[in-house]
Amino acid sequence: MRCLSLELKLGPILLLLICATITTKAAANGDGYKQCEHTVKKWAFSSQDSEIRDDKHVLRNLLFFLHVPRTGGRTYFHCFLKKLYANAQECPRSYDKLRFNPRKENCRLLSTHDDYSMMAKLPKEQTSVVTILRNPIDRVFSTYEFSVEVAARFLVHRDLTSLSRMAKRARLKAGGVSTLDIWPWKYLVPWMREDLFARRDARIRKGQSYIITNDTYNMEEISMPLRDFINDPIARDIIHNGATFQIAGLTNNSYLAESHEVRRCVLKYQSLGQYVLEVVKKRLDSMLYVGLTENHRESATMFSNLVGAQVIAQLTKSSSNSDFSIDNGSEQRPLLPNSKSDANHQENNTYRKLKKVSSTSKDEAENINMDAGKLMEAYESCISSLRNSQSERRAKSLKRISPANFTKEARRKVPELLLQEITSLNSLDMQLYNYAQNIFAKQQALMVQNMVNSENLPSTLDEHAHNNSNSLPSWKVIVLAMTSLLSSNLKDYDFMVHPRKIPIRSTNGGGKEWNASD
Ligand SMILES: *[C@@H]1O[C@H](CO)[C@@H](O)[C@H](O)[C@H]1NC(C)=O
Ligand SMILES: *[C@@H]1O[C@H](CO)[C@@H](O)[C@H](O)[C@H]1NC(C)=O
Ligand SMILES: *[C@@H]1O[C@H](CO)[C@@H](O)[C@H](O)[C@H]1NC(C)=O
Ligand SMILES: *[C@@H]1O[C@H](CO)[C@@H](O)[C@H](O)[C@H]1NC(C)=O
Ligand SMILES: *[C@@H]1O[C@H](CO)[C@@H](O)[C@H](O)[C@H]1NC(C)=O
Ligand SMILES: *[C@@H]1O[C@H](CO)[C@@H](O)[C@H](O)[C@H]1NC(C)=O
Repeated sequence: MRCLSLELKLGPILLLLICATITTKAAANGDGYKQCEHTVKKWAFSSQDSEIRDDKHVLRNLLFFLHVPRTGGRTYFHCFLKKLYANAQECPRSYDKLRFNPRKENCRLLSTHDDYSMMAKLPKEQTSVVTILRNPIDRVFSTYEFSVEVAARFLVHRDLTSLSRMAKRARLKAGGVSTLDIWPWKYLVPWMREDLFARRDARIRKGQSYIITNDTYNMEEISMPLRDFINDPIARDIIHNGATFQIAGLTNNSYLAESHEVRRCVLKYQSLGQYVLEVVKKRLDSMLYVGLTENHRESATMFSNLVGAQVIAQLTKSSSNSDFSIDNGSEQRPLLPNSKSDANHQENNTYRKLKKVSSTSKDEAENINMDAGKLMEAYESCISSLRNSQSERRAKSLKRISPANFTKEARRKVPELLLQEITSLNSLDMQLYNYAQNIFAKQQALMVQNMVNSENLPSTLDEHAHNNSNSLPSWKVIVLAMTSLLSSNLKDYDFMVHPRKIPIRSTNGGGKEWNASD
């Protein structure tokens, strides 16, 4: 009708144009398969990084820790990275994208739950990315449990109104970043919180007449059953295939406007997920380090070898010959730094920090033990106090939803069918995890090779360190100290004493169960 009335005024040619425009627009909004395929392919093409650089094993200026929620990354952040980098070197508000501005400060470490689209804000050529992946089923369980656990803390309040009044005041006072400001918890926790309050109200209304089942993961009177949780649109939005989407830069927290269209298409047409997966695999390939939550022992050792040792070298180097060496990272071979720059460093914050854990003296051998001991103490106390406070907090908040209790026994009773459902909702992440296991094995081989190399160092390097009482400890000492720190912490001296014998373990299981926090 509109077209007809227009015809009178504008004539047939213009009419044709207008009607054609309207039709095209309708198709574009319709998310049709063809249109979606085009959108996703276009994204995949533009996201392919130019071929993998062969210096990917060399730490660049900025270390970007892409922290996938519930993979145990907090341990790495607090007990490694925070110990290696000075506060001033940490990018401000790493977990708060609103205030994040990497160009403003000359920061060296960025750790965040924000996705890969963050790279658009970073100097790409100067950024090394590291991440940790976890078995997707465990990650979903952990996400569920943590959401409920954090939400349960709020049950001290009588109702949601008194809660929000309190929260406002607390936030004004603290002015800081809380779990509730951080994606994805800023969606998951309020969702669970509302749910817990509603179920509690319902119990109160019913008096004593309700029955509580003994199945924690399906305890409708207390909390949202796991089955309902995984099938909710919110879970689809931000949990399932979360690792793939995060590394793709396609979470619903993405910085890039076009990401949201791509993401809609992939959620709508499952087969398009393969394009995303291919991009993500390539990105994993070009990362400096990929850890696995399940293999915590090996992952942590590897982290110290492939990342930690280079961080130390980089920081000591940059404090010695200022900005010159920083931009020439590609010259530096991993694990074999230039000893010359070590010799004429200037004492500095970074240096002092390192020196505290690994000071030098005439007798190197004695030092290895002493420093390893000190380092070990620091790491062990860090990790155990982190664990203790985590489990204390967890126990305290789970009391509020008793008899629900997330124990191993309770988890074993979850029906197989539900596990299969989680698997199929996370098919991209399942494939990605398999792929990451292969990368992990390759990294292990690289680490062995590095350790063999550092064993065969020309002796001049050691001598050099010997006759300069003011010099930094040699590279080898640092590597050994860090390695022994980790392996002894983990009761596995084999890593240090017999570097050639590092077992390439099967990537399934083996590691101690790791109770990841964020
Ligand atoms: C719940 O109780 C029933 C019978 O009392 C028992 O067979 C079942 O294993 C229990 N389930 C859990 C999760 O404890
Ligand atoms: C992300 O997901 C959450 C939970 O479903 C939703 O509330 C939020 O609006 C989403 N954000 C965007 C940008 O789509
Ligand atoms: C540390 O070294 C850097 C580079 O040499 C220098 O710019 C900085 O001021 C030093 N910091 C301190 C506290 O000496
Ligand atoms: C890095 O090293 C190369 C080769 O040694 C040199 O030509 C270049 O100027 C250096 N770059 C910087 C920024 O110092
Ligand atoms: C939950 O289970 C753990 C381990 O079995 C136990 O130590 C804890 O007391 C339980 N908590 C509650 C609130 O029942
Ligand atoms: C220090 O080492 C150099 C070789 O790196 C050697 O020429 C020199 O004699 C040594 N100095 C002392 C005091 O041992």
